[in-house]
Amino acid sequence: SRTAALIPAAGSGTRLGRGPKAFVEVAGLSLLARSVAALAPWVDEVLVALPAGSDLPPGLLARAVEGGGTRQESVARLLADTDADVVLVHDAARPFLPGAVVGALLEAVAGTGAATVALPVADTLVRGEGGLWAEGVPREGLWAVQTPQAFRRELLVRAHAEAGAQEVSATDDAGLVARLGLPVRLVPGDARLFKVTTPGDLALAEALARVWDA
Ligand code: C5P
Repeated sequence: SRTAALIPAAGSGTRLGRGPKAFVEVAGLSLLARSVAALAPWVDEVLVALPAGSDLPPGLLARAVEGGGTRQESVARLLADTDADVVLVHDAARPFLPGAVVGALLEAVAGTGAATVALPVADTLVRGEGGLWAEGVPREGLWAVQTPQAFRRELLVRAHAEAGAQEVSATDDAGLVARLGLPVRLVPGDARLFKVTTPGDLALAEALARVWDA
């Protein structure tokens, strides 16, 4: 069976303020280059969705498609461009991907057909209203969802088609599969898989890169 890595990398990086986020460098390597390098050894092909008008940087072993207006649309376009049996969807914005996590995820998808990396929530949770504590939320049983996420391809194609038809939007792909009532395995993630979103995250990434790249 064949496996493809699908990397949505077409975000504009508004919150980071450094241009298209996937091209932002951490210790001399772009977020995109780091994500591609982490996944390439595990899959038969790597597909990347890029912002309109941008090219794949030289040296990346990947195929590029033009991204869409939302992450969901970018993933839909990537999905349309592969016939692999299993797809592994991963945010370019999560550049530190341990190999052991990919291995565990691929094992899980072979069983359930859909799996995502996620972390049990460790912080206290609260719903805020106008900057004030409105109501505590029990964290029991709650997980924070990360990527990568892995699916039998035809299952994710179906989930995207249904979401499109019903005008449902989601910030990830496992959620689209789960809303069809299909099982999604939760695979323990890793704190290093945090998504680089804000300038503070970028500072964290720079610090982590010193250990990661050593
Ligand atoms: O904006 P956010 O950080 O949640 O984006 C998550 C991932 O989805 C990023 O890797 C980003 O490049 C990608 N994305 C995309 N197409 C969009 C918006 C986001 O591929 N239109």
